[in-house]
Amino acid sequence: MTTTSSAPGKVYLFGEHAVVYGEPAVPCAIERRARVTVTERDDDRLRVDASDLSIEGFTVEYGGSTDERPAVDVPPSLLEAATGYVDSAVAQARAAADRPDAGFDVEIESEIPLGAGLGSSAAVAVAGIDAATRELGVDLDAREVADRAYRVEHEVQDGEASRADTFCSAMGGAVRVEGDDCSTLDAPDLPFVVGYDGTGHDTGELVAGVRALREEYGFAADTVAAIGDLVREGERALEAGDVEELGRLMNFNHGLLSALDVSARTLENMVWAARDGGALGAKLTGAGGGGSIVALDDGDGVETALSLTPECAETFRAELATAGVRAE
Ligand code: PMV
Repeated sequence: MTTTSSAPGKVYLFGEHAVVYGEPAVPCAIERRARVTVTERDDDRLRVDASDLSIEGFTVEYGGSTDERPAVDVPPSLLEAATGYVDSAVAQARAAADRPDAGFDVEIESEIPLGAGLGSSAAVAVAGIDAATRELGVDLDAREVADRAYRVEHEVQDGEASRADTFCSAMGGAVRVEGDDCSTLDAPDLPFVVGYDGTGHDTGELVAGVRALREEYGFAADTVAAIGDLVREGERALEAGDVEELGRLMNFNHGLLSALDVSARTLENMVWAARDGGALGAKLTGAGGGGSIVALDDGDGVETALSLTPECAETFRAELATAGVRAE
């Protein structure tokens, strides 16, 4: 048998980084999906074909033991990116189906650039767990998939992960995450435009940087708490469908993230290009350092402005994805 599942990427309307310290965040799923196809093998090995992860393609095959790393000639970080999340997602599926020795061929295709703040790893983990458990004849509901995918991120990112990305990818739409408390929100179809600088970032490193600032300065801890206040204000604007207010708050959120030193020259240039292009608001999305910005604009001014910005490698309009994880 062969089973395919897909799950969407996401942008953060508000609240990245602060969510790690128990403040609320509102990520929104976008119509850029990762698809994972799983075929059970008749041995306990794992073969992963990740030729489409917006990085150089390669295929690796390795044994069921987690100690045995694949013998291929690629940089360890690249290998980690392609295998870490898949390994751990497969372990979750084996545990959920009580089939510790199940082996799989796994094929990953993704429309979401890696490490760009668009939730690629969460989408791969969510789709991978869903496909592998269904391949073994077990149907998990989306919340269970989200919970297991969170455990994957938590393990692979050395404990530096919130539930935000994985819950959003599993459920779709706009969601609210505060600690372990996760819920879906009613959101209008927001006119997101994404700008991507073509680079990736190390989420764990950026989270550690904010943690250090927060420990060193009381005012950095206050900045994190201020993001929490802003998110609560943003939830009221979302409920009222007040897109102009959402834009103002996105600008404010970006300023607070810059103060926490997670912005970058490329992100600043894209944020300002988007604002000059008529955005209602623009901010970096995800861990920062490099990667993507998200803007609100229902015309085409922002896309045009971003496409003329040298630091912007790719710009696209991102529809809110109402479907979370789904069978393909
Ligand atoms: O850039 P991403 O997609 O890895 O998003 C990270 C979001 C953080 O809040 C910085 C970390 C987290 O796990 O919530």
